[in-house]
Amino acid sequence: MPTAPNFYLGKTPVYGDVVLAPMDGYSDLPFRSVCRELGSAISYTEFIHASDVIHRPEHVRARWQYLPWERPVVFQIYGRTPQTLLEAALRLQEFSPDAIDINMGCPDKRIVRRGAGAGLLGTPVKVARIIRLLSRNLEVPVTAKIRLGLDDSCRNYLLIARIVEENGGALLAVHGRTQAQGYKGTADWDAIAEIAQAVSIPVLGNGDVRTPQDIERMKEHTGVDGVMIGRAAIRNPWIFARRDRASVSPKEVWEVMTKHLSRSLEFYGAERGLILFRKFAAQYLSPYFADNSQRRALLTAPSPQEFLTLAEKLLHL
Ligand SMILES: Cc1cc2nc3c(=O)[nH]c(=O)nc-3n(C[C@H](O)[C@H](O)[C@H](O)COP(=O)(O)O)c2cc1C
Repeated sequence: MPTAPNFYLGKTPVYGDVVLAPMDGYSDLPFRSVCRELGSAISYTEFIHASDVIHRPEHVRARWQYLPWERPVVFQIYGRTPQTLLEAALRLQEFSPDAIDINMGCPDKRIVRRGAGAGLLGTPVKVARIIRLLSRNLEVPVTAKIRLGLDDSCRNYLLIARIVEENGGALLAVHGRTQAQGYKGTADWDAIAEIAQAVSIPVLGNGDVRTPQDIERMKEHTGVDGVMIGRAAIRNPWIFARRDRASVSPKEVWEVMTKHLSRSLEFYGAERGLILFRKFAAQYLSPYFADNSQRRALLTAPSPQEFLTLAEKLLHL
C-alpha cells in the first residue's frame, strides 16, 4: 500500500487512483472484492433503488452487503425525490458505508422519464436540494455520479458539479457522455478536465478507459484525482494492477477465476451463484475458447465441479 493517500473521501483516506465503476448486474460483492484485491481503490455498489430500500429491503439487501476489507465502500442509490433518497440513505447508513452516492447518470429512459438517474441533470435545483438535504442529515459523506448533461443542447456539467460541491458533496464521479448519448460516441475528456479545474472536491474521471495506458492518459489529460473503470474491468480485472489482459498467465486466470467463483457460490448459493458467475466466466475464458461448442459446453456446465474440470483443461493447467 502506498504511504500517502491519493485523495480523501470525506475524512477517509483513499489509497490508489483506479476505481471499479458501479455496474448493475456486475459490481456485486464477489466481483467487487476481486477487483479490490487487484487494486481498485474504492468499492462502489451497484445502484440500489431508494424506494426498494424503504419498501422491500429483503429484495435488495444483497446489493449493500460487503466484506470488511472492501472499505472504503460507497453505496449508490437512485430515486426521484429528495425525501425518498434521504429516507433510504438514513436506513442504509445503519450498515456503515463510507459514503452514499447519488446516481445522476443512469441513461435508462424508464428511469430518466421519472426524473431519476440522469433525469436529475434536467432539474439542477432538485440536485441542490438532494445534496444539501442528505449532506446535512447524514453522518457519512454524500457523493454524486453524473454525466455531462441531458443532451448536446443541455451540457450543464459545470453547473451541476458546482451545485454538488457547494451543497456539501464530498466527491464527484463524471462519465464524459450525455444521457442522450447512452454509450455511443466517445467520452469527452476535455469536459472532465473542465470539471476537475472548476471544483476542489476530488473528481473521478470515467469513460472509455480500456487499457493501463489509458489510465495514465486520462489522468494527464484531465487532472482528475482518480480514474473510474467500468466495461474494461469486466473484460480485464487486472487493469486495476495496471496490467494488460495479454500479460496475465492462464495460471493467474485460474487463481482469480476460482476465487471469484467460490465467492459467488458462497454469496448467492450454489445454483444462483453459478448462473450469475457465467457472464464473468465468459470473459475470463474468452481468449482460450477454440470454438463455439467448447464455449457453450463451459458456459452451460450444470455444476461448479463440471465447470472447473472443463476450465482446467481449457487453460492447460
Ligand atoms: C452493465 C452496466 C451497468 C451499469 N450500471 C451502473 C450503475 O448501477 N450505476 C452507475 O452509476 N453507472 C452504471 N453504469 C455506468 C458505468 O458506471 C460507467 O459510467 C460507464 O460504463 C462508462 O464507463 P466505461 O467506459 O469505463 O465502461 C453501468 C454500465 C454498464 C455497462
